[in-house]
Amino acid sequence: MSKSVSKRDRKEKFKFRVEFPDYTVDQVETATDNTYMLPDVGEEATINYNGEEVTINVQNLIDIRKLGFGNYGSVMLAEVQNHRDIKMAVKRLGLMPSTNNLADYTATTDLKTIRAVGSCNFPHVIRFYAGLIDKKESQVVICMEACDTSMEKFYTTMHKIKETKHIDILLKRMINHIVDALQFLKSKGILHRDVKPSNILIKQNPVIFKICDFGISGQLTNSVAHTMMKGTQVYLAPERIDASQAPEGYGIRSDMWALGLSTLEIATGQHPFAKMNALGIMSAIMTWVPEPPSNLSSELQKLVICLLRIKQAERPATYDDIQISPAMKSLPTEITSGETEMVKNVIANIPDIPDDY
Ligand SMILES: Nc1ncnc2c1ncn2[C@@H]1O[C@H](COP(=O)(O)OP(=O)(O)OP(=O)(O)O)[C@@H](O)[C@H]1O
Ligand SMILES: [Mg+2]
Repeated sequence: MSKSVSKRDRKEKFKFRVEFPDYTVDQVETATDNTYMLPDVGEEATINYNGEEVTINVQNLIDIRKLGFGNYGSVMLAEVQNHRDIKMAVKRLGLMPSTNNLADYTATTDLKTIRAVGSCNFPHVIRFYAGLIDKKESQVVICMEACDTSMEKFYTTMHKIKETKHIDILLKRMINHIVDALQFLKSKGILHRDVKPSNILIKQNPVIFKICDFGISGQLTNSVAHTMMKGTQVYLAPERIDASQAPEGYGIRSDMWALGLSTLEIATGQHPFAKMNALGIMSAIMTWVPEPPSNLSSELQKLVICLLRIKQAERPATYDDIQISPAMKSLPTEITSGETEMVKNVIANIPDIPDDY
């Protein structure tokens, strides 16, 4: 064996080989074996935090409190040692050497995608600071902008304390901001594929909605097989359940479906298929006629119904079509004091997550 080859082999040992499907192609999902390298991910990174360059190390992240817990690990609010003013959300994902491990794929694809667009400073896309590797814990560590909470937690408390007076305008605001984000992602060749209340984050001052976990994670976490395995709620559009319905494949209209479903879930306080099993959902989804609650304005009800049309060709053709719909036209440009008060009150009532949860 030549000297140069063995040198390269040694170098290879310190790179993480990851499997990463191409997420820019608008087509029916198929298994893919594209592989990518993340040679530049290490224990340390220099980040730009509000214009200031700061070097962070995985050992210097100090947990403040738990922000949430997903299928692949926890998300903590953390600060940086010696830079106590820097607060960020730190998501840890298991990095397993086995290519058969779903968490392994998600960890790496999440990082690659968030890095590609999260650094663009787009207001409705969660800002990405750095991706690190914690070798001791065998984890990918994603450092991102921290929001106050997710819409999943928000709506649970909102219904519990019955703080729904300004729900119509708040949901219109959410759709306006998230459609803006999805349009931006699309301009970068990315479909979200995992739109759901837990991936829509909210900040209260000023009220703003941001999308997170964009990219390919949906290909795995929201696939029919995996969702049935997990037995959790489904945000898959009908054409993703029965691909023969849509020879043109997965496109922005499947993300529109998931946004419509999320809006309905937030408005009613429960996922429309919450009480069904996977098989029930799969048949119901093909004939379903959604009924938005009467406390939503007629223009928002119409928009939600339009986003949830079973045939994707009957959903809006473009994101612009949504932005110029009567529901969006009725939305005041400036955030109203009603929205601000409502958001503040709901967030103040969200219970803390115990550290041992
Ligand atoms: N940047 C962030 N700022 C504030 N809270 C966050 C942030 N990122 C995630 N969270 C919280 O952490 C929770 C867990 O997020 P995570 O993405 O790991 O899982 P999930 O979206 O709930 O489900 P899944 O595992 O299917 O992706 C979210 O529901 C949210 O409440
Ligand atoms: Mg998420």
